[in-house]
Amino acid sequence: MCAEIEQIKQQIQSLRIEIERHNHQYYALDDPVIPDMEYDKLFIRLQQLEQEYPQLITIDSPTQRIGASPLKQFSQIAHGVAMLSLNNAFVDEDIQAFDRRVREVLLSNSVEYMAEPKFDGIAVSLRYEKGIFKAGATRGDGYIGEDITLNLRTIHAIPLILPHDHSPPLLEVRGEVLMLKADFLALNERQVRMDEKTFANPRNAAAGSLRQLDSTITATRRLAFFAYGVGEFDDPSLPRDKQSHVMDYLASLHFPVAKEVKTVSGMEGLLSYYQSIGSQRKNLPYDIDGVVYKVNAVLDQEKLGYVSRAPRFAIAHKFPAQEALTQVIDIAVQVGRTGALTPVARLQPVFVGGVTVTNATLHNIDEITRKDVRIGDTVVVRRAGDVIPEVASVIIEKRLQQAQVFHMPSHCPVCHSHVVRYADEAVFRCTGGLFCPAQRKQAILHFASRRAMDIEGLGEKLVEQMVDHAIVRTPADLYKLGLSALANLQRMAQKSANNILQAIEKSKRTTLSRFIYALGIRNVGETTAKDLAKYLGSLDRLMAINDVQLQQIPDVGPIVAQSIVNFFAEQHNQEVIEQLRASGIHWEEHEGQSSQLDAITSPLSGKVFVLTGTLSGMGREQAKEKIAMLGGKVSSQVSKKTDYVVVGIDPGSKYDKAVDLAIALLNEDEFMALLQNH
Ligand code: IVH
Repeated sequence: MCAEIEQIKQQIQSLRIEIERHNHQYYALDDPVIPDMEYDKLFIRLQQLEQEYPQLITIDSPTQRIGASPLKQFSQIAHGVAMLSLNNAFVDEDIQAFDRRVREVLLSNSVEYMAEPKFDGIAVSLRYEKGIFKAGATRGDGYIGEDITLNLRTIHAIPLILPHDHSPPLLEVRGEVLMLKADFLALNERQVRMDEKTFANPRNAAAGSLRQLDSTITATRRLAFFAYGVGEFDDPSLPRDKQSHVMDYLASLHFPVAKEVKTVSGMEGLLSYYQSIGSQRKNLPYDIDGVVYKVNAVLDQEKLGYVSRAPRFAIAHKFPAQEALTQVIDIAVQVGRTGALTPVARLQPVFVGGVTVTNATLHNIDEITRKDVRIGDTVVVRRAGDVIPEVASVIIEKRLQQAQVFHMPSHCPVCHSHVVRYADEAVFRCTGGLFCPAQRKQAILHFASRRAMDIEGLGEKLVEQMVDHAIVRTPADLYKLGLSALANLQRMAQKSANNILQAIEKSKRTTLSRFIYALGIRNVGETTAKDLAKYLGSLDRLMAINDVQLQQIPDVGPIVAQSIVNFFAEQHNQEVIEQLRASGIHWEEHEGQSSQLDAITSPLSGKVFVLTGTLSGMGREQAKEKIAMLGGKVSSQVSKKTDYVVVGIDPGSKYDKAVDLAIALLNEDEFMALLQNH
C-alpha cells in the first residue's frame, strides 16, 4: 500500500514538472512545444490523480494556480481582481454534468446562459480611469501580469478614450487579443519575403506581436481585440444583473464584442449553440478552440462561486483539436498535373480535426527548409476544416539522432526525367512533359484541344480511360489507335469510335504553330507558338536553336527561352516528336522570315559589340549595320556586358577599358572573319 502511494507520488511529481515546463514555454516564452490537446491530457491526468489522492495535493501544484511567472523584462502589474481560467469540457456528458451542478446549486429547472466563442488568442486586462486608457496587462500567473500598455495602445480595436459621456472612476475591461486569419496569412507571406521567421498559427503570431519589448514592432502587426467581461470597477452605469447586459454595455463603450455571442436556455440551448458555432468555425474570421458558457445572472454567478483555479458558473466546451503530434515516417514526392513536385510527409496515423491523417503536405522545399522538417521528426500536424492537412512545425527537442535531411530528387519519381527549378519559382518541376504518366492526361487533353491539334470528341473522360488502360501513353499513341482498342473502352459505341478515329486522322493536317502549341511546352502559349513558327519557319530549327538566339525573337524572354531549350533537350520529348512526324502529321513548310532568321541563328546573335578606332575596310555605319543584320548589338560604352571590342587604327579610351575588364578584343581581320564565317 505504502509502496503504491510512493509510486503515485512520483507520478504526480513528474507530471507537475512537465506541466510547469510547458507552462513556461506557453505563457512566458510564447513558444509552446506541444499542441494544446497534449497539454490538456497531462493536466487532466494530474487532476484525476489529485482527486483520487487528495492528501498528495500541494499548494505549488499547477492545478492550484494559473500559468507561469511573467518575463522579467516587462514591469509587473498586480490584478485587483484575479484573471482566472476556465475548466474544459470535451464531450456532451461533461456539459450535462456542469449544467446539473449549476441547477442543483441554484435550485432551478432551466438556467439561462450566455454563450460565447472561445477566442484562441491572449487574455488581457485594460484599465480605464475616468474614461482614459491608463494601463494594460497580460494575465501572467492570474494575479500578477506584465505591463504591455504601450503595445496595447497600438491596437486600433482598443479605445484610448471612452465615449465622452462615460468616464467612470474605474473600469477594467477583460478580453482577448488575437490576429484575424487573413492578417495572419498576410503576415506570414511578408515574413517569408523578408526572410524572417514565420508563425505556426494566428495565436502564436498574436502572442509574438503583443509581447514585443519594442512596441513599434507591435504597431506594424494587425491585431484584433474582443471583450468578454470586466475586472475591477467603480462604475455606477455598469449593469450588475446579467452578463449579457454587461456585454451590451461594453459594446456601447465601443469595445468590440463578437457578434456570435448569444443568450441560450438549458442543455438544449447550449448544445445547439455548440453545433451552430462548430459549423461556422471555418468561416469565422478568427480562430476559436471552442465555446464558453456562463451563467447569465450575476447574482447566480456569485452563488456558484469558484473552485481553485476556475469559476463554477462557467465552462469551456472545446472543439476537437485541429493540431496533433505524430512522427514523419518518410517524405515522398508527388507529381502534379503540371509537373510540379510536391513533397508529402508520410505520417504515423493520427486523429486530428475529426479524421485519421496519414499524409500531410509540406508544400515545397523552401517550406521544408524553413521549418527544418526531417524524416523521423516528431511534428505538429494541423487539419483545419476541410483544408489539406499540413505539417505546421517540428518539435526540435524530440529530434532523433538518426533523423534524415530531405533532398528534392534530381529525377522525377514517376518517369525519371530530369527535375528542374526555374529561377522565378518555388517549385521543382519534372521535365518529362509528354512522357510523364502523371502529366500524361493533362498533356494529351491539351494536345487534342481545339486551339492545338483540334481532335473533336477527345474529352476528359475518354482520355482518362485511355491513359488508365495504358492504350495511350503519349500523344503519339493517339495516331496508332485501332478500332478494336477504342471500342473496348466503356460507353464507346462502334460509331463514336469511328468518329474519333476520323477526327484523329483529320488532325494530321495542321500548321506549325498549332503543332508547337500542342506540345505543351511550359510558358509557350498560343501567341508565342505563332511567333516561333513565324520567325523560325521549321520545327528542326526550333529544336536546334539555343536560348540566346531564341531571345532575339520579339517577346521571348529568358524564362520562355529556357523552357523551350529544356523541353527539347529531353530525350523522351524528342522521341515522341519523331513518332508524331512519322505518323504523318504535316504542315506547309515556309522559310520563316529569313532576314530575321539569319539574325537569330547567327553566332553574332545577342552579342554586344563596341567599336573603337578607324576600320580601313569599311565605315563605322556600315560595320554597325552588318552587326545588326546578324543579330548583334552595337553599344557606345564598354561595360561588363560587352562581348567584343573591335579595335581599329588609333583606338581611344574604350580600348583601355576593354583591357581592364578583360573583354575579348578583335582586330579588323578577326572581325571580318567573324562576319564572313557566318
Ligand atoms: S471568460 C473567469 N470568455 O479562455 C472566466 N474567457 O481558459 C474568465 N477565453 O484566460 C474567462 N474566450 O483567455 C472567457 N469568451 C470568453 C473567452 C475566454 C477565450 C480565454 C481567456 C481565458 C481562458 C480560460
